[in-house]
Amino acid sequence: MAVEATAPGKAILFGEHSVVYRGPAVVLAIDRRARVVARKRDDDRIFFDAMDLGFSGYFTGETYVPLQGESWRGKRLQAFLVAARKTMEHLGTESGLGITLRSDIPVAAGLGSSAALSVATVASVGGLLGGDLSQEEICELAYEGEKVVHGTPSGVDNNISTYGGVLRYEKDVGIERFELDGDLPFVIGDSMRKRSTKRLVDRVRMLREREPELVEGVLDSIVLVSESGLAALKANDLHRLGDLMNVNHGLLSSLGVSIAKLDMMVHSSRGAGAYGAKLTGAGGGGCMIALSDEASIEKINRAILRCRGEPHVVSVSYEGAKTREVD
Ligand code: PMV
Repeated sequence: MAVEATAPGKAILFGEHSVVYRGPAVVLAIDRRARVVARKRDDDRIFFDAMDLGFSGYFTGETYVPLQGESWRGKRLQAFLVAARKTMEHLGTESGLGITLRSDIPVAAGLGSSAALSVATVASVGGLLGGDLSQEEICELAYEGEKVVHGTPSGVDNNISTYGGVLRYEKDVGIERFELDGDLPFVIGDSMRKRSTKRLVDRVRMLREREPELVEGVLDSIVLVSESGLAALKANDLHRLGDLMNVNHGLLSSLGVSIAKLDMMVHSSRGAGAYGAKLTGAGGGGCMIALSDEASIEKINRAILRCRGEPHVVSVSYEGAKTREVD
């Protein structure tokens, strides 16, 4: 018997970086998913097949033995190892495991691929070992894995990937999940530049230490934009939503987390008819997101391609983490 779990990636619509300090992030689950299959093994090794990421290997105790790819690649697997082990600890059981990781979420692009893989790892291992894990448990155990990669992430990624849909997420306050009236088409543009969330969060922290008053003012403005953005989203007011996305991009740029290529894709998408466009996630590379209407999707796609970005047309996915038995 094996158990497969899938979990969605995400795009932050408002509140990246400010959510680390205070206020809400407004975040969408997107129709791109991570897929993890877990099987029991007779020995006590934990095997990972991550051939989508270009490597496979196993852990025996703390030692990583690569089968394909170099040994340093094992670091990428630490989060999933921790997620699997914490799940077993939580269930009071232990087993050798064979874990297959697959994902159609672009990696290291701010679209939540690592959190989605952590969430799906917890859900599949939990399902395999007979634990009927609640969404809260899945979310919390996946966060343990996320901390290994990101230090002290705000928790937005594991929450959206567990619950799906649209979330207002605020650290130490919790989540509000809701569904939108219509289907909003978003175009995501991947700059194809990999970046580390932790490094960008550190950059903002250091700027805040050097210029506390200034940065506090910007963070306050982002919190205001996020609250207004949430209201516009609930009211399906696309013009206001677009304006607020544009303002949010400017505020993030002022914190030094945009790059020229993201700026170019953002401006070209607006020129191609987007209601609004902004970087999404930590910045420094990764992705931007444009709010479009059906008529402008193709033009925005072409605009992103002209900037040498990779466009993905996405819609909101209301399906959070899901498990099923497979052969
Ligand atoms: O990992 P990303 O690119 O989705 O960024 C996460 C959002 C931040 O607010 C920058 C960090 C966090 O922990 O919330």
